[in-house]
Amino acid sequence: MNPETGTTGTTETRILLRHAGDPDLKKIGTYRSYGGYNTQERAYRELEVDWMVNELEESGLRGRGGAGFPMGKKVSFLPHGDEAKYLCCNADESEPGAFKDRELMQRNPHQLIEGIAISSLAGDIGHAFIFIRGEYDRQADILDEAVAEAYEAGYLGKNILGSGHDLELVVHRGAGAYICGEETALLDALEGKRGNPRLKPPFPAVQGLYGGPTLINNVETLSNVPHVIANGAAWFRSFGTEQSPGTKVVSISGKVRRPGNYEVELGVPTRDLIMGLAGGPPEGHEIKAFYPGGSSSPVLTADDLDIAYSFEAMAEAGSMLGSGSIIVADDTVSIPHMALRTARFYHHESCGKCTPCREGTNWTVKMLERVVRGEATPMDLDIISSVQKNIIGHCLCVLGDSMAMPVSTMVNKFRDEFEEVIASAAMAGFPTEDGREAEADGEAPGPGGVGPKQVERERLVGRPLPTGAQELSEH
Ligand SMILES: Cc1cc2nc3c(=O)[nH]c(=O)nc-3n(C[C@H](O)[C@H](O)[C@H](O)COP(=O)(O)O)c2cc1C
Ligand code: SF4
Repeated sequence: MNPETGTTGTTETRILLRHAGDPDLKKIGTYRSYGGYNTQERAYRELEVDWMVNELEESGLRGRGGAGFPMGKKVSFLPHGDEAKYLCCNADESEPGAFKDRELMQRNPHQLIEGIAISSLAGDIGHAFIFIRGEYDRQADILDEAVAEAYEAGYLGKNILGSGHDLELVVHRGAGAYICGEETALLDALEGKRGNPRLKPPFPAVQGLYGGPTLINNVETLSNVPHVIANGAAWFRSFGTEQSPGTKVVSISGKVRRPGNYEVELGVPTRDLIMGLAGGPPEGHEIKAFYPGGSSSPVLTADDLDIAYSFEAMAEAGSMLGSGSIIVADDTVSIPHMALRTARFYHHESCGKCTPCREGTNWTVKMLERVVRGEATPMDLDIISSVQKNIIGHCLCVLGDSMAMPVSTMVNKFRDEFEEVIASAAMAGFPTEDGREAEADGEAPGPGGVGPKQVERERLVGRPLPTGAQELSEH
């Protein structure tokens, strides 16, 4: 153990990013020189479909896009029969803090294509789509080239490798709406409609794209498939934990010295990711809070750094692993301002279809604006919390909860800071009872040895405050 950082020396375990340092990996020849497409050849020529589905189920590979649902189970839910079935690869990646799919597609597009081709064979699927975030122009161009190469080499198209199985793969560029990453909104967008979430059930595996059974998986989930089929479920389970097998590409950003993507075994201490691999906060600063699974996850604090980075441990700690994107806030970050920024994002991206999300995100933004302007009272913090409670679990999709969960944890865990920001913002330009702005130098000592501003601040928050609380409002 490192006595300074408390880290245990976790290093990366690169499976998906193994050859990512080779700039030519995106070319089919280079990918094949590392053994790429060997597994697809075996799958299409020799392997039994039932064996592959079983192996995917046994591996325990969980979805890497947010919900963590077992991938093999989804494949097994697809009905057997002659109807047209579809695969949609979710490459929308629009959650603040997430940038791992971008790297996977940019550096190793053929790994994803091979994963899609094997999954399509396992699910008896003839049409596949990669729905890629509109802003990911460069990655979409790289995918277009890789798909063309795969067609040319006979890994996509008609009668692939003489197997009798056909697969058409289309790269579809989204228009840049976060909600289109929600799986059913993604289906509507692919069908050419406005991307609005659908009611579930029916789930996409039963009734998805164009009404047909559809397998929807994240880029990272599908990129794991060639490795699971090549090496088997037991090998995959030798990484990670019982309930979270395998590795995870974790995007780490915010107040750390080495932001980036790190591929580690699931279950390593979160401290090793933030303080070890990402280098911790800048010299002289402390961690205050972090989102462990993208901006939609309930925030954790410095006390939670030793929690294992796994689906189950994060859930036990009251948060979630989500897309595996850690955003770090150090002691220079104002939590109320961070809450406002988070709420504004979800308010902007709400599709407006259901009331708790449409009205709740709007309300929350307005209330948090009152907080940072110093116009709120401590009672407003209780109202913000109760609005979040009324959003969680009451929306058509999870976007509403995605704002409510982090905002409510921030208000509850950092309530003192919210009160101090209200007080200091109020005093920075607080109108006095006769309508004049408070004097900037109006800090002459009053009763109890504190100035009138401090007395007013304390009246606002209803308890004594440290002097200098107004400095917080400057962040
Ligand atoms: C608002 C919203 C946005 C989402 N955005 C993404 C996304 O960009 N990429 C992704 O893979 N999953 C996203 N998801 C999760 C998907 O709905 C779905 O669970 C996932 O694509 C399934 O793939 P997986 O099982 O491989 O994780 C989002 C969900 C919600 C509610
Ligand atoms: S929760 Fe928000 S984004 Fe989701 S359907 Fe309702 S309004 Fe639309």
